[in-house]
Amino acid sequence: MRRLPPVLLEDGCPRELISLIRTVLAACKEISFRVGQGALSGVLGSTLDENIQGETQKKLDVLTNQLLKDILLESGYVKAIASEEEDFTVAGNPDANYIVAFDPLDGSSNTDINSLVGTIFSIMAAPEGADPADPSIFMQPGKNQVAAGYVLYGPSTVLALTTGKGTRFFTLDKTHGTFLLTQDFATVPEETSEFAINASNQRHWQPAMQNYINDLIAGDTGPRGRNFNMRWIAAMVGDVHRVLCRGGIFTYPTDTKDPNKPNKLRLLYEANPMAMLIEQAGGIASTGTERIMDIQPDAIHQRVAVILGSKNEVETCLSYHK
Ligand code: F6P
Ligand code: MN
Repeated sequence: MRRLPPVLLEDGCPRELISLIRTVLAACKEISFRVGQGALSGVLGSTLDENIQGETQKKLDVLTNQLLKDILLESGYVKAIASEEEDFTVAGNPDANYIVAFDPLDGSSNTDINSLVGTIFSIMAAPEGADPADPSIFMQPGKNQVAAGYVLYGPSTVLALTTGKGTRFFTLDKTHGTFLLTQDFATVPEETSEFAINASNQRHWQPAMQNYINDLIAGDTGPRGRNFNMRWIAAMVGDVHRVLCRGGIFTYPTDTKDPNKPNKLRLLYEANPMAMLIEQAGGIASTGTERIMDIQPDAIHQRVAVILGSKNEVETCLSYHK
C-alpha cells in the first residue's frame, strides 16, 4: 500500500498542490478523530445559529469549518477559501496559487445518529494577480478544478481523491495517521439497478423526474422490465461513495417544495467536486439539461439540480428530460 504523495508525484501533480492536499487532509484527520469521539467530546447537537443558507448549524459544522479554515489559511497555500458555513469568501495569502471551496461536514444531521458524514473539497487555480478578497475568483466552472475529493467518516475513514488522472481511494490508517492507497482507479459500473433520491419530495418534482422514478418503481412489470432497489443515506457524501464503489444513480432534482429554493445541493463545494470524482471514474454528472462542470457560477452558494452516477442509467434518466 502506498502513501499519498508518491502516487500524486507519479501523476506529475505540482508539489505545491500536493502540499495543499496534505494540508486539507491534516484537518480531515483531526475531524475524523473528533467525529469518532462523538458524545464523549460533547460535540453532538446544534448551536443556536443558522448559516447563510437558513440551515441550523450543528456544533460539528462550526468546529469542522473552523479547523479547515484555520489550517488552510495558516498554511500559506491558499489565496482564498469558500465554505458552506461562511457567508462570504475569506482571503488568504495574496501570493498563493490555489483557492479551495469546501463543505466541512456534509450530512451533518447524521452526526446525532452516529451515521455517515464527510468533508467535501474542490481546488482550483487562482487567477494570476487576482485580489484574494474578490469573491469572483471562485466564479469558475467545475471543469477548471485541479483536484477534488471527499473524506468519508464511516466505520473507516476513506478519502476519494482525483487530480484529473482517475479517482482513487485511500483509507486512513488511524494507528499511524496516514492515508494509504487502497484502490487505484475506481470505476463506476455503467449499468445499475440502484437509485438514490429523497422520495418524500415526489409530488414536488418536475414531470420528467416523476416519470423516470415511476418507471423504476414499476419494476419488472413496468417499461424497464426489471426491479430496482432504493437507498438514501441523507448525506450526499455517503450516497456518492456507494455509487463510486458499486454503481447507482444519485439525484437531488429541482422541486417546487420551496419556491425560493428550487435546488438543494451547492455547485461549488458539493456538485462540482462530486461531478469530477464521478466523471474521473467513468460516470456522468448532469443537472438534467447540462454537464455540471460546464456551469458558469454566479454566486458562491449557488444551488443546482444533480443527477450523477452510472453512465447508462444517467443517460436513461436524461432521456426523460429531453
Ligand atoms: O448538504 C445537503 C445534504 O445534506 C446532502 O448531503 C444530502 O444528500 C441532502 O442534503 C439531504 O437532504 P434531505 O434532507 O432531503 O434528505
Ligand atoms: Mn452538504
